[in-house]
Amino acid sequence: MADGPEIVIEPMQLADLPQVRRIEKASFSVPWPRDSYRREIMDNQRAWYFVARRPDVEPPPQPPPRRFPFNLWPRAPVPGNDIVAFGGMWLMIDESHITTIAVDPEYRRRGFAEALIIEMAKLSRLRGATRITLEVRMSNRGAQNLYRKYGFVDHGVRPRYYSDDREDALIMWSEPIHGPDFHARLTRNERDLSERLNWAARL
Ligand SMILES: CC(C)(COP(=O)(O)OP(=O)(O)OC[C@H]1O[C@@H](n2cnc3c(N)ncnc32)[C@H](O)[C@@H]1OP(=O)(O)O)[C@@H](O)C(=O)NCCC(=O)NCCS
Repeated sequence: MADGPEIVIEPMQLADLPQVRRIEKASFSVPWPRDSYRREIMDNQRAWYFVARRPDVEPPPQPPPRRFPFNLWPRAPVPGNDIVAFGGMWLMIDESHITTIAVDPEYRRRGFAEALIIEMAKLSRLRGATRITLEVRMSNRGAQNLYRKYGFVDHGVRPRYYSDDREDALIMWSEPIHGPDFHARLTRNERDLSERLNWAARL
C-alpha cells in the first residue's frame, strides 16, 4: 500500500462543481437542476457535502483573481479529474438525511462509497443526529446493499418518486446511531475497509 492516503474526503467547494457534475451525469438518469449543488453548499445551513479527492492527481489550476471591472465576469473554473466521488446530507436537529452519493464509474467497487458513508455517519453522530435516513430507487440493488451493510432497513415506499420514469423510492432508516449495534457495525466495517483502502478525512 502506498504511504499516503489513496483518497482524501473534504468539504465540497465551488471549484469542485464541474467535476461533481461530471460524476453526477455518469451516475444518475436525472441530474439535479444546474444550480442545486451551488445553492446547497453556499446557502443551505443544514447541508454538508463532501468530495473524495485523489491526492496523487494535480488539482485543476485556478485562474488568478482579476481586477475590477473584469472580475464581474468570472472565468469558468477549469475542470480537473482529481475528484472520484461525492456525497451529501442534511443535518436536521436529531435526524440526518443522506441526499446523494455517487462514485465515478471508473472507481467503483473500491470502497469509496463506504468511506463516504463512514465519515457521514461519524459526523452525524458528532453533530447530535440519532438516526440516518435516505431514499433509493427500488431497482438500485447495489446502493441498497451498501446501506444494508451499514444496518439500514426498509421503512416504506414513496410511490412514483422519481420524475423520469415514476419509479418508486424505497425509504431506508439506520438503527439508532448512538446505539451499540450501529457502533459495533461501523467499527467492524471501518476496520475491514481500512485493510484495503487508505483514506483520510479533513472535514
Ligand atoms: C452505489 C455506489 C455509490 C456504490 O459505490 P462504490 O464505491 O462502488 O461502493 P463500495 O465499493 O464502497 O461498495 C460498498 C458495498 O456496497 C455494495 N455494492 C456496491 N456496489 C454494488 C453493486 N454493483 N452490486 C452489489 N452490491 C454493491 C456492496 O455491499 C459493497 O460491499 P462489498 O464490497 O463488501 O461487497 C455507486 O455504484 C454509484 O455511484 N452508483 C450510481 C449512483 C447511485 O446509485 N447512488 C446511490 C443513490 S441512493
